[in-house]
Amino acid sequence: MSDTTTDNSSSSIILRCKNITRTFIETEIPVKVFENISFQVQQGESLAITGASGSGKSSLLYVLGGLDKPDSGTVYWKGRDIHSLNEKQRSHLRNSSLGFVYQFHHLLPEFTALENVAMPLWISGIKSASALDKAKALLVAVGLEKRCQHKPGEISGGERQRVAIARALVNEPDCLLADEPTGNLDNYTAEQVYDLMLSLNQRLKTSLIMVTHDTYLSSKMERILHLEKAHLKHSLQHKG
Ligand SMILES: Nc1ncnc2c1ncn2[C@@H]1O[C@H](COP(=O)(O)OP(=O)(O)O)[C@@H](O)[C@H]1O
Ligand SMILES: [Mg+2]
Repeated sequence: MSDTTTDNSSSSIILRCKNITRTFIETEIPVKVFENISFQVQQGESLAITGASGSGKSSLLYVLGGLDKPDSGTVYWKGRDIHSLNEKQRSHLRNSSLGFVYQFHHLLPEFTALENVAMPLWISGIKSASALDKAKALLVAVGLEKRCQHKPGEISGGERQRVAIARALVNEPDCLLADEPTGNLDNYTAEQVYDLMLSLNQRLKTSLIMVTHDTYLSSKMERILHLEKAHLKHSLQHKG
């Protein structure tokens, strides 16, 4: 008897997607962005998703993160089919197990860096003082101890992305999903933000799935999935 809502194949696999397909039919000519994609991610692994602009990287990330539904196929997070959950359960899984970082930081302009990082904890009901302590520790971890009381408008682009990374990590997610998080930064700052994400990935054992079109930055990851003509090419890199 097969149960399609759970998948217990291996406990160290945090993400498994099986034959996922997504076609946008809202447009005049339907766009098949990806077809029959399958791959899995181990705990602590770092993975880049590369591809040309318009190849479907963001669409794939939305489906993985449960923000969009595939036409067919299944996305399992730690064995749970994210699209079979109801909206409340899905938000809970997203808030507790996944962290999102986007190209634009989406910080709240009227709150300080510290308050922005504490926000996900406050939303999940954790008391103000302990949330602020935890947020502070994360800001220290991303090298922004001296920027806690600054608002997003008072810090640089790279610093804003580091605040966004701290915020994404504050709930101790299993996996960080990042969509071109350095796409808006100069090369030097982009590399610093990348290296920070990789060092946090190694230190905290948070898996990292990073969308990028930058081949130099993607070469720093353990594994690359290249999206082209709606299909994935896998490439295994060897890191010491
Ligand atoms: N909500 C949508 N409705 C219709 N078409 C979409 C939608 N989102 C993305 N697309 C199309 O799907 C393709 C892939 O887009 P996207 O995932 O944003 O690519 P990438 O992130 O690799 O640049 C593009 O052709 C885009 O126009
Ligand atoms: Mg995109």
